[in-house]
Amino acid sequence: MTSARTAPAAVLCGLGAVLPPRAVANEALCAELDTTDQWIRTRTGIRERRIADPSVSTADLAAAAAATALESSGSRDVHAVVLATTTPDHLMPATAPAVAARLGLTDTAAFDVAAVCTGFVYALATAAGLIHAGTARRVLVVGADRMSRLPAADDRTTRPLFADGAGAVVLRSGDTNEPGALGPVVLGSDGTRRDLLVVPHGGHMHMQGPDLFRHAVDRMCSVTRQAVQLAGWRLEDVDRIVPHQANARITAAVGRHLAIGADRLVQHIETVGNTGAASIPLALAQASADGTLLHRHRVCLTAFGAGLTWGATSVIWPDLKPAAHPHHDTAMERP
Ligand code: COA
Repeated sequence: MTSARTAPAAVLCGLGAVLPPRAVANEALCAELDTTDQWIRTRTGIRERRIADPSVSTADLAAAAAATALESSGSRDVHAVVLATTTPDHLMPATAPAVAARLGLTDTAAFDVAAVCTGFVYALATAAGLIHAGTARRVLVVGADRMSRLPAADDRTTRPLFADGAGAVVLRSGDTNEPGALGPVVLGSDGTRRDLLVVPHGGHMHMQGPDLFRHAVDRMCSVTRQAVQLAGWRLEDVDRIVPHQANARITAAVGRHLAIGADRLVQHIETVGNTGAASIPLALAQASADGTLLHRHRVCLTAFGAGLTWGATSVIWPDLKPAAHPHHDTAMERP
């Protein structure tokens, strides 16, 4: 008789994030756009956002965040690098091999995942698949975006929202019952509504904000319910929901529909803005550093983005070691 062999779980064992040091307050945008601090704060929840200097690339942000995640995982050894980004540095090649090379990984699988603001959850699912299949035992998953490059300079609807940053996690092969083991991932897309948020070739971002808002709330609620149910939890068991940070009103509406109070919703958009694929790992890094996320908390990650795309997963929060030697970079700082 042979014993049944189950696929290894993907276990979160490292976390890091970086933000560009330059904070741009709403007041600074008012000098360039027909808007007010009050409009931006009440309609989006954003007070300031971090904008990278023009010379800073997505690979710069990604490599800095990845270095801190590897450090916190206790090892620089990974077998694949999966980078979620909407702002690759080139049309080709992908940005992930450049990130890997910056980390000294010149013999490692590396590729980009494009699912806009859901990119990090898609990348987690992809990385977990590599681990389940036995293709890789340790995978670096990075979400990095320079979203501030996409709006037109005079677009008051999109410019206040989008910003820059990067976050990363390390997943390792492990046991489904360990804290840190990713639960089932739910992913979805609906390309019939791709018109709601689009950047045409060579052009600037167009957004149909109110429609997108409604889809974001509906999809994040339904995908969160599915991921929580597949984890074998009830919504009332969830200690923290870490949503993609698109608009504080979207997060609040999701909380209202799911009957999850503000104390269980992780929010950082006020000082960071919408950082695309970086938003969830950035929120995780901040919440982990400030004690909002605690060992053994039941955590649900949920995202929505252009595409349309959406996705969610669950994790029992692991006992992560803070990185022993803070990563310093003149162009970046830790959140
Ligand atoms: N300052 C002042 N007025 C502004 C403005 C700004 N920065 N941006 C838009 N307005 C105006 C509009 O022109 C409109 O004026 P009108 O009534 O004279 O036409 C009015 O404010 C209301 O605009 P509307 O788009 O209906 O506002 P809203 O309450 O829906 O808020 C968003 C706009 C973009 C903040 C909101 O729709 C949103 O966050 N949508 C989702 C965005 C999102 O999730 N994007 C990323 C997906 S990952």
